[in-house]
Amino acid sequence: MAHLFNRNVLLGVSGGIAAYKSAELVRQLLEQGATVRVIMTRGAQEFITPLTLQALSGNPVHTELLDAEAELGMSHIELARWADLLLIAPATADLLARLAGGRADDLLTTVALATAAPLLLAPAMNQQMWRDKATAANVATLRARGCALVGPASGEQACGDIGPGRMEEPAVIAATAASLFETGLLAGKRVVITAGPTREALDPVRFISNHSSGKMGYALARAAADAGARTTLVSGPVTLPAPDHVRVLQVESASQMLEQSLQLLPECDIFIGCAAVADYRPAAVAVQKIKKGPEEISLQLVRNPDIVAAVAASENRPFTVGFAAETQDLLAHARDKMARKGLDMIVANDVSDRSIGFNSDDNAATVLWADGEQVLALAGKAALARQIIELIAGRLVTADKCN
Ligand code: C5P
Repeated sequence: MAHLFNRNVLLGVSGGIAAYKSAELVRQLLEQGATVRVIMTRGAQEFITPLTLQALSGNPVHTELLDAEAELGMSHIELARWADLLLIAPATADLLARLAGGRADDLLTTVALATAAPLLLAPAMNQQMWRDKATAANVATLRARGCALVGPASGEQACGDIGPGRMEEPAVIAATAASLFETGLLAGKRVVITAGPTREALDPVRFISNHSSGKMGYALARAAADAGARTTLVSGPVTLPAPDHVRVLQVESASQMLEQSLQLLPECDIFIGCAAVADYRPAAVAVQKIKKGPEEISLQLVRNPDIVAAVAASENRPFTVGFAAETQDLLAHARDKMARKGLDMIVANDVSDRSIGFNSDDNAATVLWADGEQVLALAGKAALARQIIELIAGRLVTADKCN
Protein backbone atom coordinates (compact mmCIF):
# COMPACT_ATOMS: atom_id res chain seq x y z
CA MET A 1 0.00 0.00 0.00
CA ALA A 2 1.20 3.50 -0.82
CA HIS A 3 0.87 4.92 2.71
CA LEU A 4 3.01 7.95 1.89
CA PHE A 5 1.17 8.83 -1.32
CA ASN A 6 1.40 12.56 -2.03
CA ARG A 7 3.64 13.14 1.01
CA ASN A 8 6.75 15.26 0.77
CA VAL A 9 9.47 13.51 2.76
CA LEU A 10 12.67 15.44 3.35
CA LEU A 11 15.36 12.90 4.17
CA GLY A 12 18.33 14.18 6.12
CA VAL A 13 21.43 11.99 5.98
CA SER A 14 24.23 12.57 8.48
CA GLY A 15 27.71 11.09 8.55
CA GLY A 16 27.72 7.53 9.83
CA ILE A 17 28.51 4.20 8.25
CA ALA A 18 24.76 3.49 8.09
CA ALA A 19 24.51 6.29 5.47
CA TYR A 20 24.88 3.62 2.81
CA LYS A 21 21.47 2.28 3.90
CA SER A 22 19.90 5.66 2.98
CA ALA A 23 19.93 4.55 -0.65
CA GLU A 24 17.61 1.67 0.19
CA LEU A 25 15.55 3.97 2.43
CA VAL A 26 14.94 6.39 -0.48
CA ARG A 27 13.72 3.42 -2.53
CA GLN A 28 11.37 2.28 0.25
CA LEU A 29 9.94 5.79 0.70
CA LEU A 30 9.31 6.09 -3.04
CA GLU A 31 7.67 2.68 -3.03
CA GLN A 32 5.28 3.98 -0.37
CA GLY A 33 4.31 6.81 -2.72
CA ALA A 34 6.35 9.67 -1.18
CA THR A 35 8.11 12.45 -3.05
CA VAL A 36 11.63 12.50 -1.62
CA ARG A 37 14.24 15.24 -1.41
CA VAL A 38 17.54 14.65 0.33
CA ILE A 39 19.77 16.87 2.47
CA MET A 40 23.26 15.51 3.20
CA THR A 41 25.66 16.77 5.82
CA ARG A 42 29.32 17.09 4.95
CA GLY A 43 30.05 13.90 6.93
CA ALA A 44 27.38 11.95 5.04
CA GLN A 45 29.13 12.76 1.75
CA GLU A 46 32.21 10.90 3.01
CA PHE A 47 30.16 7.69 3.11
CA ILE A 48 27.86 7.97 0.07
CA THR A 49 27.80 10.37 -2.86
CA PRO A 50 25.05 12.93 -3.45
CA LEU A 51 24.87 11.58 -7.01
CA THR A 52 23.61 8.20 -5.75
CA LEU A 53 20.82 9.76 -3.74
CA GLN A 54 20.02 12.23 -6.52
CA ALA A 55 19.64 9.40 -9.02
CA LEU A 56 17.46 7.38 -6.67
CA SER A 57 15.26 10.23 -5.41
CA GLY A 58 14.95 11.88 -8.82
CA ASN A 59 15.64 15.26 -7.23
CA PRO A 60 18.80 17.32 -6.72
CA VAL A 61 20.46 16.68 -3.37
CA HIS A 62 20.88 19.66 -1.06
CA THR A 63 24.18 20.03 0.77
CA GLU A 64 25.03 23.69 1.42
CA LEU A 65 23.42 26.36 3.57
CA LEU A 66 25.41 29.30 2.30
CA ASP A 67 25.44 28.60 -1.42
CA ALA A 68 23.83 31.37 -3.48
CA GLU A 69 23.16 29.07 -6.44
CA ALA A 70 21.55 26.32 -4.37
CA GLU A 71 19.43 28.90 -2.56
CA LEU A 72 18.18 30.12 -5.94
CA GLY A 73 16.91 26.61 -6.72
CA MET A 74 15.11 25.90 -3.46
CA SER A 75 16.08 27.92 -0.41
CA HIS A 76 16.42 26.36 3.03
CA ILE A 77 13.17 28.06 4.02
CA GLU A 78 11.36 26.68 0.96
CA LEU A 79 12.69 23.22 1.75
CA ALA A 80 11.47 23.58 5.34
CA ARG A 81 7.99 24.55 4.13
CA TRP A 82 7.94 21.91 1.41
CA ALA A 83 8.40 19.05 3.87
CA ASP A 84 5.44 17.16 5.32
CA LEU A 85 7.98 15.15 7.32
CA LEU A 86 11.66 15.64 8.12
CA LEU A 87 13.20 12.20 8.51
CA ILE A 88 16.85 12.02 9.57
CA ALA A 89 18.46 8.64 8.93
CA PRO A 90 21.06 7.97 10.04
CA ALA A 91 21.05 10.48 12.89
CA THR A 92 24.54 10.40 14.41
CA ALA A 93 25.39 11.25 18.03
CA ASP A 94 26.76 14.59 16.86
CA LEU A 95 23.61 15.40 14.91
CA LEU A 96 21.41 14.55 17.92
CA ALA A 97 23.57 16.86 20.06
CA ARG A 98 23.31 19.69 17.54
CA LEU A 99 19.52 19.25 17.24
CA ALA A 100 19.12 19.13 21.02
CA GLY A 101 21.19 22.30 21.31
CA GLY A 102 19.05 24.09 18.72
CA ARG A 103 22.09 24.71 16.51
CA ALA A 104 21.73 25.97 12.95
CA ASP A 105 25.30 25.41 11.78
CA ASP A 106 24.58 23.55 8.56
CA LEU A 107 21.71 23.11 6.12
CA LEU A 108 20.16 20.09 7.88
CA THR A 109 20.04 21.56 11.38
CA THR A 110 18.83 24.90 10.01
CA VAL A 111 15.96 23.24 8.14
CA ALA A 112 15.14 21.21 11.27
CA LEU A 113 14.64 24.48 13.16
CA ALA A 114 12.78 26.17 10.32
CA THR A 115 10.21 23.49 9.58
CA ALA A 116 6.76 23.01 11.08
CA ALA A 117 6.79 19.40 9.86
CA PRO A 118 7.19 16.56 12.36
CA LEU A 119 10.68 15.22 12.91
CA LEU A 120 11.52 11.50 12.85
CA LEU A 121 15.02 10.41 13.84
CA ALA A 122 16.69 7.07 13.16
CA PRO A 123 19.78 7.13 15.41
CA ALA A 124 22.87 5.14 14.43
CA MET A 125 26.12 5.04 16.36
CA ASN A 126 28.46 2.85 18.37
CA GLN A 127 26.68 1.16 21.29
CA GLN A 128 28.79 2.94 23.89
CA MET A 129 28.09 6.32 22.31
CA TRP A 130 24.36 5.49 22.38
CA ARG A 131 24.57 4.52 26.06
CA ASP A 132 26.56 7.62 27.00
CA LYS A 133 24.73 9.95 29.38
CA ALA A 134 25.22 12.94 27.06
CA THR A 135 23.47 11.15 24.18
CA ALA A 136 20.72 9.92 26.52
CA ALA A 137 20.13 13.48 27.72
CA ASN A 138 20.00 14.77 24.13
CA VAL A 139 17.51 12.06 23.17
CA ALA A 140 15.34 12.90 26.21
CA THR A 141 15.39 16.59 25.24
CA LEU A 142 14.39 15.81 21.66
CA ARG A 143 11.61 13.43 22.73
CA ALA A 144 10.25 16.04 25.14
CA ARG A 145 10.06 18.45 22.18
CA GLY A 146 7.89 15.99 20.28
CA CYS A 147 10.50 14.38 18.01
CA ALA A 148 9.78 10.74 17.21
CA LEU A 149 12.52 8.11 17.19
CA VAL A 150 12.73 4.82 15.34
CA GLY A 151 15.39 2.45 16.63
CA PRO A 152 18.22 2.03 17.15
CA ALA A 153 18.21 -1.74 16.75
CA SER A 154 20.54 -4.02 18.68
CA GLY A 155 23.07 -6.39 17.19
CA GLU A 156 26.50 -6.62 15.70
CA GLN A 157 27.93 -3.25 14.71
CA ALA A 158 30.26 -2.17 11.92
CA CYS A 159 32.96 -1.55 14.55
CA GLY A 160 32.65 -5.13 15.84
CA ASP A 161 30.80 -4.21 19.06
CA ILE A 162 27.51 -5.84 19.93
CA GLY A 163 24.69 -3.77 21.43
CA PRO A 164 22.12 -1.04 20.70
CA GLY A 165 23.10 1.51 18.05
CA ARG A 166 22.48 -0.07 14.64
CA MET A 167 20.26 2.01 12.39
CA GLU A 168 16.83 0.41 12.09
CA GLU A 169 16.12 -1.37 8.79
CA PRO A 170 14.91 0.94 5.96
CA ALA A 171 11.57 -0.93 5.65
CA VAL A 172 10.87 -0.36 9.37
CA ILE A 173 11.85 3.32 9.10
CA ALA A 174 9.58 3.86 6.07
CA ALA A 175 6.67 2.12 7.84
CA THR A 176 7.22 4.27 10.95
CA ALA A 177 7.28 7.40 8.77
CA ALA A 178 3.93 6.39 7.28
CA SER A 179 2.42 5.65 10.70
CA LEU A 180 3.31 9.16 11.96
CA PHE A 181 0.63 10.58 9.69
CA GLU A 182 -2.00 8.48 11.44
CA THR A 183 -2.37 10.32 14.73
CA GLY A 184 -5.70 8.88 15.92
CA LEU A 185 -6.52 12.26 17.51
CA LEU A 186 -10.02 12.26 16.04
CA ALA A 187 -10.65 8.50 16.16
CA GLY A 188 -14.37 7.79 15.94
CA LYS A 189 -15.29 11.39 15.07
CA ARG A 190 -17.21 12.35 11.93
CA VAL A 191 -15.90 15.40 10.11
CA VAL A 192 -17.52 17.34 7.27
CA ILE A 193 -15.46 19.94 5.39
CA THR A 194 -16.58 22.33 2.65
CA ALA A 195 -13.86 23.19 0.14
CA GLY A 196 -13.15 25.00 -3.11
CA PRO A 197 -15.17 27.68 -4.86
CA THR A 198 -18.85 27.62 -5.76
CA ARG A 199 -20.21 28.30 -9.23
CA GLU A 200 -23.31 30.40 -9.62
CA ALA A 201 -24.92 29.89 -13.01
CA LEU A 202 -25.93 32.85 -15.17
CA ASP A 203 -27.18 30.76 -18.06
CA PRO A 204 -26.49 27.21 -19.32
CA VAL A 205 -22.86 28.03 -20.22
CA ARG A 206 -21.72 30.82 -17.88
CA PHE A 207 -21.19 31.23 -14.17
CA ILE A 208 -19.80 33.52 -11.47
CA SER A 209 -17.01 31.96 -9.41
CA ASN A 210 -13.65 32.70 -7.78
CA HIS A 211 -10.05 31.48 -7.82
CA SER A 212 -10.17 29.21 -4.76
CA SER A 213 -8.04 26.11 -5.44
CA GLY A 214 -9.54 23.96 -2.67
CA LYS A 215 -6.00 23.10 -1.46
CA MET A 216 -6.59 24.12 2.16
CA GLY A 217 -9.89 22.22 2.46
CA TYR A 218 -8.43 19.11 0.85
CA ALA A 219 -5.36 19.29 3.14
CA LEU A 220 -7.69 19.55 6.15
CA ALA A 221 -9.67 16.53 4.93
CA ARG A 222 -6.49 14.54 4.62
CA ALA A 223 -5.30 15.59 8.08
CA ALA A 224 -8.71 14.73 9.57
CA ALA A 225 -8.65 11.29 7.92
CA ASP A 226 -5.09 10.76 9.18
CA ALA A 227 -6.35 11.63 12.65
CA GLY A 228 -8.80 8.74 12.36
CA ALA A 229 -11.97 10.73 11.57
CA ARG A 230 -14.60 9.51 9.12
CA THR A 231 -14.22 12.42 6.77
CA THR A 232 -16.48 13.84 4.08
CA LEU A 233 -15.56 16.68 1.73
CA VAL A 234 -18.37 18.73 0.24
CA SER A 235 -16.39 20.11 -2.65
CA GLY A 236 -17.00 22.78 -5.23
CA PRO A 237 -15.35 22.30 -8.65
CA VAL A 238 -11.56 21.86 -8.21
CA THR A 239 -8.87 19.89 -10.02
CA LEU A 240 -7.49 18.08 -6.95
CA PRO A 241 -7.52 14.29 -6.53
CA ALA A 242 -9.69 12.89 -3.73
CA PRO A 243 -7.52 12.33 -0.63
CA ASP A 244 -7.20 8.71 0.54
CA HIS A 245 -9.94 7.53 2.90
CA VAL A 246 -12.05 10.65 2.32
CA ARG A 247 -15.55 10.60 0.83
CA VAL A 248 -15.89 13.44 -1.69
CA LEU A 249 -19.32 14.79 -2.59
CA GLN A 250 -19.23 17.14 -5.55
CA VAL A 251 -21.45 20.21 -5.66
CA GLU A 252 -21.49 23.33 -7.82
CA SER A 253 -23.56 26.15 -6.32
CA ALA A 254 -23.78 27.57 -2.79
CA SER A 255 -27.35 26.34 -2.55
CA GLN A 256 -26.25 22.78 -3.38
CA MET A 257 -23.38 23.08 -0.89
CA LEU A 258 -25.81 24.19 1.82
CA GLU A 259 -28.28 21.42 1.05
CA GLN A 260 -25.56 18.75 1.05
CA SER A 261 -24.01 20.08 4.27
CA LEU A 262 -27.34 20.16 6.12
CA GLN A 263 -28.11 16.63 4.94
CA LEU A 264 -24.86 15.43 6.52
CA LEU A 265 -25.45 17.09 9.90
CA PRO A 266 -27.00 14.06 11.64
CA GLU A 267 -23.68 12.27 11.04
CA CYS A 268 -21.33 15.14 11.84
CA ASP A 269 -19.36 15.90 15.02
CA ILE A 270 -17.09 18.55 13.52
CA PHE A 271 -17.93 20.89 10.62
CA ILE A 272 -15.23 22.96 8.96
CA GLY A 273 -16.38 25.63 6.50
CA CYS A 274 -13.34 26.12 4.31
CA ALA A 275 -15.09 26.79 0.99
CA ALA A 276 -14.87 30.17 -0.71
CA VAL A 277 -18.63 30.42 -1.13
CA ALA A 278 -19.83 33.04 -3.62
CA ASP A 279 -21.57 35.74 -1.61
CA TYR A 280 -24.10 36.43 -4.38
CA ARG A 281 -25.80 34.50 -7.18
CA PRO A 282 -27.78 35.74 -10.16
CA ALA A 283 -31.38 36.41 -9.17
CA ALA A 284 -32.52 34.32 -12.13
CA VAL A 285 -30.73 31.76 -14.28
CA ALA A 286 -31.47 32.31 -17.98
CA VAL A 287 -32.86 29.16 -19.59
CA GLN A 288 -31.07 29.91 -22.87
CA LYS A 289 -27.58 31.31 -23.44
CA ILE A 290 -27.69 35.08 -22.96
CA LYS A 291 -27.19 36.68 -26.38
CA LYS A 292 -24.69 39.41 -27.07
CA GLY A 293 -26.67 42.62 -27.61
CA PRO A 294 -26.59 46.05 -26.01
CA GLU A 295 -23.33 47.77 -24.96
CA GLU A 296 -24.27 47.40 -21.31
CA ILE A 297 -26.33 44.89 -19.45
CA SER A 298 -27.00 44.60 -15.73
CA LEU A 299 -27.11 41.54 -13.63
CA GLN A 300 -29.26 41.37 -10.59
CA LEU A 301 -27.63 39.39 -7.80
CA VAL A 302 -29.10 38.06 -4.58
CA ARG A 303 -27.31 37.04 -1.38
CA ASN A 304 -26.38 33.40 -0.99
CA PRO A 305 -27.17 31.57 2.24
CA ASP A 306 -24.35 31.48 4.80
CA ILE A 307 -23.55 27.78 5.07
CA VAL A 308 -21.29 27.73 8.11
CA ALA A 309 -23.65 30.05 10.01
CA ALA A 310 -26.62 27.81 9.15
CA VAL A 311 -24.71 24.78 10.45
CA ALA A 312 -23.75 26.62 13.66
CA ALA A 313 -27.40 27.61 14.20
CA SER A 314 -28.73 24.07 13.72
CA GLU A 315 -30.11 21.89 16.48
CA ASN A 316 -27.50 19.51 17.95
CA ARG A 317 -24.86 21.56 16.18
CA PRO A 318 -21.46 20.04 15.55
CA PHE A 319 -18.25 21.75 16.70
CA THR A 320 -18.20 24.40 13.98
CA VAL A 321 -15.08 26.00 12.50
CA GLY A 322 -14.95 28.80 9.92
CA PHE A 323 -12.30 30.74 8.07
CA ALA A 324 -11.81 34.49 7.87
CA ALA A 325 -9.74 36.01 5.08
CA GLU A 326 -9.08 39.62 5.96
CA THR A 327 -6.90 42.44 4.65
CA GLN A 328 -6.89 44.63 7.77
CA ASP A 329 -7.53 44.39 11.54
CA LEU A 330 -7.27 40.63 11.08
CA LEU A 331 -7.95 39.44 14.60
CA ALA A 332 -10.67 41.93 15.48
CA HIS A 333 -12.60 41.17 12.29
CA ALA A 334 -12.11 37.43 12.73
CA ARG A 335 -13.38 37.50 16.34
CA ASP A 336 -16.37 39.53 15.22
CA LYS A 337 -17.07 37.01 12.43
CA MET A 338 -16.79 34.11 14.87
CA ALA A 339 -19.41 35.71 17.14
CA ARG A 340 -21.72 36.76 14.29
CA LYS A 341 -21.75 33.31 12.73
CA GLY A 342 -21.93 31.49 16.07
CA LEU A 343 -18.69 29.53 15.47
CA ASP A 344 -16.62 27.60 18.01
CA MET A 345 -13.36 28.40 16.27
CA ILE A 346 -12.14 30.55 13.38
CA VAL A 347 -8.97 30.37 11.31
CA ALA A 348 -7.89 33.91 10.41
CA ASN A 349 -5.78 34.56 7.30
CA ASP A 350 -4.12 37.80 6.31
CA VAL A 351 -4.84 37.88 2.58
CA SER A 352 -3.10 41.21 2.02
CA ASP A 353 0.05 39.02 1.83
CA ARG A 354 0.08 37.56 -1.70
CA SER A 355 2.48 34.74 -0.78
CA ILE A 356 -0.20 32.96 1.24
CA GLY A 357 -3.82 31.92 0.96
CA PHE A 358 -6.02 31.14 -2.02
CA ASN A 359 -3.89 29.51 -4.72
CA SER A 360 -0.57 29.27 -2.95
CA ASP A 361 0.87 26.05 -1.48
CA ASP A 362 1.75 27.82 1.76
CA ASN A 363 -0.37 29.46 4.37
CA ALA A 364 -0.09 31.11 7.77
CA ALA A 365 -2.93 31.73 10.17
CA THR A 366 -4.06 32.66 13.64
CA VAL A 367 -6.63 30.28 15.11
CA LEU A 368 -9.09 31.87 17.53
CA TRP A 369 -11.61 30.35 19.92
CA ALA A 370 -13.71 31.79 22.76
CA ASP A 371 -10.95 32.05 25.33
CA GLY A 372 -7.75 31.57 23.42
CA GLU A 373 -5.74 31.87 20.25
CA GLN A 374 -2.73 30.30 18.59
CA VAL A 375 -0.50 31.72 15.88
CA LEU A 376 0.48 29.18 13.20
CA ALA A 377 3.59 30.26 11.30
CA LEU A 378 3.88 30.13 7.52
CA ALA A 379 4.06 26.48 6.46
CA GLY A 380 2.92 24.14 3.71
CA LYS A 381 -0.85 23.70 3.71
CA ALA A 382 -0.47 20.03 4.79
CA ALA A 383 1.54 21.01 7.89
CA LEU A 384 -0.85 23.84 8.68
CA ALA A 385 -3.86 21.54 8.28
CA ARG A 386 -2.32 19.07 10.70
CA GLN A 387 -1.86 21.83 13.30
CA ILE A 388 -5.45 23.06 12.85
CA ILE A 389 -6.76 19.51 13.33
CA GLU A 390 -4.61 19.19 16.49
CA LEU A 391 -6.11 22.41 17.84
CA ILE A 392 -9.65 21.23 17.06
CA ALA A 393 -8.96 17.89 18.78
CA GLY A 394 -7.59 19.79 21.80
CA ARG A 395 -10.73 21.94 22.03
CA LEU A 396 -12.95 18.85 21.82
CA VAL A 397 -11.10 17.23 24.73
CA THR A 398 -11.54 20.43 26.79
CA ALA A 399 -15.25 20.62 25.87
CA ASP A 400 -15.77 16.94 26.79
CA LYS A 401 -14.13 17.54 30.20
CA CYS A 402 -16.43 20.52 30.87
CA ASN A 403 -19.62 18.59 30.00
O1 C5P B 1 -18.39 36.04 5.60
P1 C5P B 1 -17.14 35.43 5.03
O2 C5P B 1 -17.31 34.96 3.62
O3 C5P B 1 -15.91 36.27 5.22
O4 C5P B 1 -16.90 34.15 5.96
C1 C5P B 1 -15.98 33.16 5.65
C2 C5P B 1 -16.39 31.87 6.34
O5 C5P B 1 -17.78 31.62 6.17
C3 C5P B 1 -15.70 30.67 5.72
O6 C5P B 1 -15.61 29.69 6.74
C4 C5P B 1 -16.68 30.26 4.62
O7 C5P B 1 -16.52 28.89 4.26
C5 C5P B 1 -17.99 30.52 5.30
N1 C5P B 1 -19.09 30.91 4.39
C6 C5P B 1 -20.17 30.06 4.20
N2 C5P B 1 -21.20 30.43 3.39
C7 C5P B 1 -21.20 31.63 2.78
C8 C5P B 1 -20.11 32.51 2.96
C9 C5P B 1 -19.06 32.11 3.76
O8 C5P B 1 -20.17 28.96 4.76
N3 C5P B 1 -22.22 31.98 2.01
